[in-house]
Amino acid sequence: MVDEAVGDGPVRVGARWSHVQGVGAAADHLVSELNLGDDAEAVRSAAWLHDVGYAPALVQSGFHPIDGARFLRSQQTPELVVSLVAHHTGAEFEARGRGLGAELAVFDPPPQDLLDVVTFADLTTGPDGAAVTVDERLAEILRRNATPNGSRPPSGCGRSPSPATRATPPGFASGWIGSTPWSPIRPSHGRR
Ligand SMILES: [Fe+2]
Repeated sequence: MVDEAVGDGPVRVGARWSHVQGVGAAADHLVSELNLGDDAEAVRSAAWLHDVGYAPALVQSGFHPIDGARFLRSQQTPELVVSLVAHHTGAEFEARGRGLGAELAVFDPPPQDLLDVVTFADLTTGPDGAAVTVDERLAEILRRNATPNGSRPPSGCGRSPSPATRATPPGFASGWIGSTPWSPIRPSHGRR
């Protein structure tokens, strides 16, 4: 499904694929540690699909959570997965900043505890798929999106984290990463 959507297949996906694999692995691990019941598979699926809206063939609004969710809904993907992709990593805040609040609002917010798993996996995975702390990830996002005059336009997974993620106690992410058995992917190329 994804390859069809991006047209040029894995070559076009490659620059982001390392990050997505890392997020997927992190979510797989989190799900294995949490008791999410029937929602586990949707969370795992959303983690693996959360950046599909970057695929050039899917760009409509230019805001990848919305574009990805629109595509997934068009493919009859379960609505919980659609909503997790639409709202991941503080999309609500950036959509508002971009004037896309109404476009995002067509996707119901998912349960916050499930959304936090996807967002946490995204914010603890660097552009090359390596495990990072939330602080490191946010610093990388801000560096990447900084303009020469110092302003920071919204871009990509460089959105403001959700209040829940923002409230993550200092050290929690690094502690969790330090105790996890999953092996982050460390490819030779990364996202810019
Ligand atoms: Fe991401």
